[in-house]
Parts: sequence; C-alpha cells; structure tokens
Amino acid sequence: MSSILIVGGGSGIGLACAELALENHWLVVIAGRSEERLLAAKEKLGDVRTISFDAYNLNKARAALGDLDVEAVVATSGSDAGAVPSAAMSASGIVQAIETKAGSQLMVLQAAKDTLSSLSSMTFVTGALARKPAPGMAPLIAANAVLETLTPVLAKELAPVRVNSVSPGFVETPIYASLGEKERAEMTEAMKQASPLGRNATPRDVAGAVWFSVTNQSVNGAVLPLDTGI
Ligand SMILES: NC(=O)c1ccc[n+]([C@@H]2O[C@H](COP(=O)([O-])OP(=O)(O)OC[C@H]3O[C@@H](n4cnc5c(N)ncnc54)[C@H](OP(=O)(O)O)[C@@H]3O)[C@@H](O)[C@H]2O)c1
Repeated sequence: MSSILIVGGGSGIGLACAELALENHWLVVIAGRSEERLLAAKEKLGDVRTISFDAYNLNKARAALGDLDVEAVVATSGSDAGAVPSAAMSASGIVQAIETKAGSQLMVLQAAKDTLSSLSSMTFVTGALARKPAPGMAPLIAANAVLETLTPVLAKELAPVRVNSVSPGFVETPIYASLGEKERAEMTEAMKQASPLGRNATPRDVAGAVWFSVTNQSVNGAVLPLDTGI
C-alpha cells in the first residue's frame, strides 16, 4: 500500500489532502505542532497516524520522521505572518516570515531525505502571491518566492526524488481564524468577486493538484498554480 506524510494535515489544505489520500486507499500520516488539532483531525478522518513536531526544528523533524516509512511527503506548514506593507517591514519580520513558511517546509524536505529511504516525492504548498504579488504583503511574498524559486533547483539536485510546488490563491481555511467573522466573510467575498471565475478555490481543489504532483511520475520541478486565474 502506498503511503504519505502530510505536514500540516491537521487543518485546511493539508486536511483535504489527507482526505483525498485516504479515499485513494493510501496509508496516511498527518503532522503538525498541536496534538489537539491533530487528534481533532483524526476524529474526522478515521484511520490515520498522527505525529506532532515543529517542522522548523530540523532535529525534531528528523526524530519524528525517523520511524516512518512513507514515499510521498507534502508540506503545507505556514501562517499569515508577513502580511505587512513594505513601509512597515523590519529585518526580523522578513526573516520570521521566511522562516515560518519556507524554513519549515524546507526542513521537512531535509528531514525526509535524511530519514526516509523510500522517499519518491516532495510537494510544497506555496502561494500565488509569489507569482502575482499584491501590495501590502512584502515579507509573505518573499517567503513564498523562496520556495517557488527553489522548486526546480531542488528537483534537479534531489532527482530521482521529485520536487514540486502547488501554489494556491485565496482559499477559505483556518489560516484566517485570527480575523473576526465579519472581516473574514468580507475578505472571502472580495476575493470571489476579484476572481475571473467568480469563485475561490476550495481546499479540495488544491488537494487535487497536490495529488497530481504526488502521483504523476513525470511531474518534476513544477509550480502548479491553483489560483482561479486571479
Ligand atoms: N488559505 C489560503 O488562502 C492560502 C493562500 C495561499 C497559500 N496558502 C498556504 O497554504 C498552506 C496551508 O494553508 P492553510 O490555508 O491550509 O492553513 P492552515 O489551515 O492554517 O494549515 C496550516 C497547517 O500547518 C501546520 N503548521 C504550521 N506551522 C507548522 C510548523 N512549524 N510545523 C508543523 N506544522 C505546522 C498547522 O498546524 P499547527 O499550528 O498545529 O502546527 C496547520 O495544520 C500555508 O503554507 C499557506 O501559506 C494558503
């Protein structure tokens, strides 16, 4: 049976990836920092294994992956840190945004290639801002751009392990939980109106592209846009 580790599988896009993998009868391991969040996801998903660790910490990530035997790894770890305009940027803020997103996903890859002898694919979940920058989000744009720029490089360096990115636009998920309900609803509607398709991508839509990256043996070094053409 094929197997997959989804770091960030406790919520949002990662949770949708876990659902899709289970539907395809894969063995699924979900990971994240909060055990509580993982157990709530397991309750929903059913037959999955959970492991909790902070992906940013390479030693902890290596230790957590040490006793796994999975071939596909997906990293969705990240936050909305860095959604600040360039006028308000600080050096530490830029570093924090890059560490939180690119740092954590790159350390997942590092730990995976060090510990998983059957590793065959790595998929990052980046963000459309890297390709279609919007004002007011400079550090977050930089963090996503790091991953998207490195994707084809890592694919060449690590072959035959395939390395791809899926790059979503706006998707309604718990990443926006810190916003008030009204603000969240307004943002969701505004993004829908701005989309040429008049809709926002769903976590399931993004999971479909992740699944393509995981299962298609010729996709390598690709950044797959999942942004409704915005
Ligand atoms: N939703 C959008 O509109 C959107 C748009 C563009 C790009 N993205 C990107 O898509 C990815 C997934 O986002 P989402 O919307 O699904 O958000 P989400 O629901 O908040 O999922 C992020 C997951 O990553 C985990 N995580 C965060 N930092 C981690 C770390 N250091 N180590 C291990 N796990 C960590 C979180 O769990 P814990 O907190 O328990 O660790 C959480 O389960 C993110 O990288 C985000 O930047 C999202």
